[in-house]
Amino acid sequence: MKVTRVAVLVSGGGSNLQALIDNQRPKVKLQIAKCSNESLWGKLQNYKISLVISNNPEAYALERAGKAGIETLILTDKKYKNRLEYAKALVKELKKRNIDAVCLAGFMLILHPYFVRNFKNRVLNIHPALLPRFGGEGMYGHHVHEAVLKSGVKESGCTVHFVDEGCDTGPIILQKKVRVRKGDTPDTLAKRVLKYEHIAYPQALKLFASGKLKIKGKKAKIEK
Ligand code: GRF
Repeated sequence: MKVTRVAVLVSGGGSNLQALIDNQRPKVKLQIAKCSNESLWGKLQNYKISLVISNNPEAYALERAGKAGIETLILTDKKYKNRLEYAKALVKELKKRNIDAVCLAGFMLILHPYFVRNFKNRVLNIHPALLPRFGGEGMYGHHVHEAVLKSGVKESGCTVHFVDEGCDTGPIILQKKVRVRKGDTPDTLAKRVLKYEHIAYPQALKLFASGKLKIKGKKAKIEK
């Protein structure tokens, strides 16, 4: 099986990046690592984090990538005259490295449609709520959890979805639910949701990399 080369776009702490890094190889990696047979390695590893791009030079995610021996790139949007030029620069760097898929993991910029069109159905994002509710512009970080608590819903969770040209509107790949507890604050809820994000994102990426996801209209279906 071909290894899917993944780039992760980050802006901050990168705990989701860490989860993607930690899960990119099966548990048998130690035995296999001793064997230099590349084709065998390729059969067992269905995605590989090959590049991490940050728009923020201070992002701790860059350190995480460095520790894991992953190439990093800082591309600050402020250096480009508009969102389109920034998107073009990103696409150029990704194509240069034969990147197959892109994961947004706490990337704080909304990508220009040019980017999405160039990686159609190959850009994934994780959102800390159960979409389609509590998504859209302005719904990031603590704003999401505040809105969830304010609404009085009993459940929250996280969603991994494909990125389309809208904001948090692409086909949903998978969701994990968590209970909202009495006395929850945006912080306590965020922490509980984040634990499930770290499970959901690698699962979704493995499904993608194994070719099991098919997009039909607005839905992503898992083929058995
Ligand atoms: C996560 O809550 C994710 O859902 C959202 O941004 C946050 C990133 O956290 N898109 P981290 O940088 O991965 O720790």
